[in-house]
Amino acid sequence: MTKKLYIKTFGCQMNEYDTERIISAFEMMGYGMTDDPSEADFAIINTCSVREKPSEKVKSEIGRLKKYKKDNPNFKIGVAGCVAQQEGEAILDSNSYVDMVLGTDGIPRIGEVVERVENGERIAVTEFSSDNFTIPNFSRNRSVSAFVTIMKGCDNFCSYCIVPYVRGREKSRKSIEILDEVKYLVDNGVKEVTFLGQNVNSYGKNLDENINFTQFLYMATKIDGLERIRFVTSHPKDFSGELVDLISSEEKICEYLHLPLQAGSDSVLKKMNRGYSYSEYFEKVSMAKEKIKNIAISSDFIVGFPGEKDDDFLKTLDAIKEIEYETIFAFKYSPRPGTKASDIEDDVSEIVKSQRLKKLLDEQEKITSRLLKSQIGEIQEVMVEGISKKDNKVFSGRNRRNRIVNFVSSKVLKAGDIVNVKILEAKKNSLYGEKI
Ligand code: SAH
Ligand code: SF4
Ligand code: F3S
Repeated sequence: MTKKLYIKTFGCQMNEYDTERIISAFEMMGYGMTDDPSEADFAIINTCSVREKPSEKVKSEIGRLKKYKKDNPNFKIGVAGCVAQQEGEAILDSNSYVDMVLGTDGIPRIGEVVERVENGERIAVTEFSSDNFTIPNFSRNRSVSAFVTIMKGCDNFCSYCIVPYVRGREKSRKSIEILDEVKYLVDNGVKEVTFLGQNVNSYGKNLDENINFTQFLYMATKIDGLERIRFVTSHPKDFSGELVDLISSEEKICEYLHLPLQAGSDSVLKKMNRGYSYSEYFEKVSMAKEKIKNIAISSDFIVGFPGEKDDDFLKTLDAIKEIEYETIFAFKYSPRPGTKASDIEDDVSEIVKSQRLKKLLDEQEKITSRLLKSQIGEIQEVMVEGISKKDNKVFSGRNRRNRIVNFVSSKVLKAGDIVNVKILEAKKNSLYGEKI
């Protein structure tokens, strides 16, 4: 019988991409996939450690999986991703059920490591690779939309953030390797790619070739058959007018920008080591809004950073009103081991953090609602991603602004079709319309 892999993924899109690489490596070793851990021979949790809660989740996941070892003595448990990188060997020491710990640079070694684990060894791989950053092309479960990692790591060291410690220093992939991967995906039915990096704007900095992110994106727009291009995440300090001009002039690049502000107060931004002031950020966002017609902007926020006073928080509230994001992702600050901010007292109480988070999200709900309602009557370009299970005349997709649009169509459509939809209704987080 073929062996089966069960894998559960937490965290950001880069982890989703890594999960696809892990699956592909297991498939090459003859494994099939399963959604049911009780059927699996190998279970992997691909972890995130960006906030406190995700790492707790990992502990409870291991707790849930260990029972399968009773029925199947060969059942192996692996922890991959950012918690694996952060805690390494310690996971093996503190948890006798875990057989494999695979850090963020460990994926290329997975074949050899899994073989040894299958033979009874317990292994932790946590070295960062010093090689050039390459990802050989790999087969994957394709949909019409795919993530493609273009760089890894981060050199920004925002004072609260663990990513530079768990993903290592910034490294870019060679442009030709990425473009080949995209061409391969397009040949296999992919219509939209999202380029991934913690800080895509510094793409190319440490490559031998002379290339920056804007130049790279321009090359990607030339790929025949690729219809839509997105990217995350842009760091505001490196976000350039050159990129804005490219987005506004290239049809394939979608009008959606995730530009995390994190906080509205300059003193908090300074303590966060973000490298910009609110007014500098506002200037860049305004330029993007002015030059890119119909752009949707989104952002991340942290509330309750050490020392954040009511006044500081009010500046964050003012910022979301002034900028009018279409979406925000907001989090309560949580100290991460080893980061600079974790040395400062976490002095905003849990109650105040929760109150601020609620206030911010409530305010955003009004803004989102207003912005979505203002789109009623518009004709929007939607790429079909799925068909409703209940009604085969109802389809689901995304508009160019990255918003989910559900719509009716009397014509049968398939995933990847790009159609024009008249927006009839705004729901809480999505739009509803009909194909015209
Ligand atoms: N590279 C991306 C962010 C990756 S982490 C960027 O620079 O924007 C995703 C988000 O998690 C961050 O934008 C931040 O809002 C949040 N985050 C990171 N560390 C955090 C912490 N210690 N506590 C709470 N939220 C945090
Ligand atoms: Fe973390 Fe800042 Fe790097 Fe984003 S830019 S990954 S928030 S250190
Ligand atoms: Fe989490 Fe690692 Fe991504 S910490 S946000 S999975 S880079």
